Amino acid sequence: MRLPRTRPPLMWAAMSNRAPLPPEIARRRTFAIISHPDAGKTTLTEKFLLFGGAIQMAGQVRAKGEARRTRSDFLQMEKERGISVSASAMSFDYRDWRFNLVDTPGHSDFSEDTYRTLTAVDAAVMVIDGAKGVESQTRKLFEVCRLRDLPILTFCNKMDRESRDTFEIISEIQETLAIDVTPASWPIGMGRDFIGAYDLLHDRLELMDRADRNRLAESVKIDGLDDPRIAEHVPPELLARLREEVEMARGLLPPFDRQAVLEGHLTPIWFGSAINSFGVRELMDGIGAYGPEPQPQRAEPRQIAPEEETVTGFVFKVQANMDPKHRDRVAFVRLASGHFERGMKLYHVRAGKPITVSAPVLFLAADRELAEEAWAGDIIGIPNHGQLRIGDTLTEGEALRVTGIPSFAPELLQAVRPGDPMKAKHLEKALMQFAEEGAAKVFKPLIGSGHIVGVVGALQFDVLASRIELEYGLPVRFEGTQFTSARWVQGPREAVDELIAKNKAHIAHDNDGDVVFLTRLQWDIDRVQRDFPALRLSATKEMM
Ligand code: G4P
Repeated sequence: MRLPRTRPPLMWAAMSNRAPLPPEIARRRTFAIISHPDAGKTTLTEKFLLFGGAIQMAGQVRAKGEARRTRSDFLQMEKERGISVSASAMSFDYRDWRFNLVDTPGHSDFSEDTYRTLTAVDAAVMVIDGAKGVESQTRKLFEVCRLRDLPILTFCNKMDRESRDTFEIISEIQETLAIDVTPASWPIGMGRDFIGAYDLLHDRLELMDRADRNRLAESVKIDGLDDPRIAEHVPPELLARLREEVEMARGLLPPFDRQAVLEGHLTPIWFGSAINSFGVRELMDGIGAYGPEPQPQRAEPRQIAPEEETVTGFVFKVQANMDPKHRDRVAFVRLASGHFERGMKLYHVRAGKPITVSAPVLFLAADRELAEEAWAGDIIGIPNHGQLRIGDTLTEGEALRVTGIPSFAPELLQAVRPGDPMKAKHLEKALMQFAEEGAAKVFKPLIGSGHIVGVVGALQFDVLASRIELEYGLPVRFEGTQFTSARWVQGPREAVDELIAKNKAHIAHDNDGDVVFLTRLQWDIDRVQRDFPALRLSATKEMM
């Protein structure tokens, strides 16, 4: 059942003999939840917030999960941006830990945004539906996590419903995702007969309370599966099965090993029912106890360690028009090191200018509040007027540049026209704003007027059209263009100039002013590569 792994040992192994982090940093756990729509991410998030004391009752973030259901509702949700925004990053305390939960956009069309979100976390919780197993969106998101070697903790949800056989679920994860799985708990019964789980890491019986969905499970300390007390709670036929399955699981599956979890080779799996609050506490304890502390951040010319005394951070997301009445935008910054205090002056490396961060915000469930302080691992929001872009690095003076936040070539290109030709300038402004947010790529062709917009998923055109109309009062039309691919051109200035001179009809500038080659044929790209060996036509560009 175990699949051989071929991945080399990672940074983790090398980091294991680092000095301990300062306690305020060491207690932080910054993670995202990845799942297929409907697996229960919203419900689980809500329970996290409930048990983290950030909300008083379940139901307060509910609107979001429901709004995602249909396309029109999705657009509606975009209109009610408050909801999606406050959920972008949520901080709460649980036991001795500070959890920072970063939301991954729900829709599969936003893969690039999702990728960037995952650059801001140290771990991911993968939620799967016990009846459906590993679904397509989960698989995609998992692959992104793997690229970054993120540790993954798994929650198999909806065990109160008819689910698949436990071994079948585990082996599907192992086979489709090529990661070892170790059971942290083992379900007892299933569907209507589901009574709880045996906590294999603490030898505890967890019993589900079906009557009160917001109550944590009753926990019974058990001295191994032969402890006679277990029979007081588990009916004989379920007990016999539990003993047999756990024995088999212990024989067949790898034992729990924190180092292997941190290296991303092994994922512990908890079985539960988010809606019944079952298994949630065990999962939260697992994130705290076995999840990673804030990790070092890749940067040029040197890596950033979280324990460094000076503050550094990077922008992984920009959200504009959080409040349509004010044209402000909020840059979401992951702090990579140090202890931040409100009012600090930080150095904006790309712009070469200092900025005073006087009104940073922390996101506490549905509210945002001023962040008086924050530590490495935290996510703060910095309101600004467009100075801060995705990929920007902030430091206390050193010229560091965080790397690894890519921008992908769009897969779909369309020309955009204003409904009213007199409003072209307004449209340009709106487009630039969305480009800064990372919601679209905007290209200005060298020849002709107008702009070409590139996105990763078709739905984004609809979302953009509706936002441009809503936020700028501009009706727009998207139309097909003769181009289907965009490649960033990199190389020596003279070669770039020569390419431009000879291929004017294919050249555009992106919203940062970088040169882009537009075409509809792979053949064209190959031709340029052949004719201009000094140039590189790249499908990704590092944001900075
Ligand atoms: P998502 O964010 O991953 O898309 O999922 P969400 O939490 O919105 O859950 C999707 C559906 O699954 C919801 O039902 C939710 O109530 C249900 N659900 C979540 N966890 C569990 C669980 O542990 N057991 C069972 N049986 N159901 C669960 P819905 O009918 O779509 O919405 P609602 O009317 O219940 O709100």
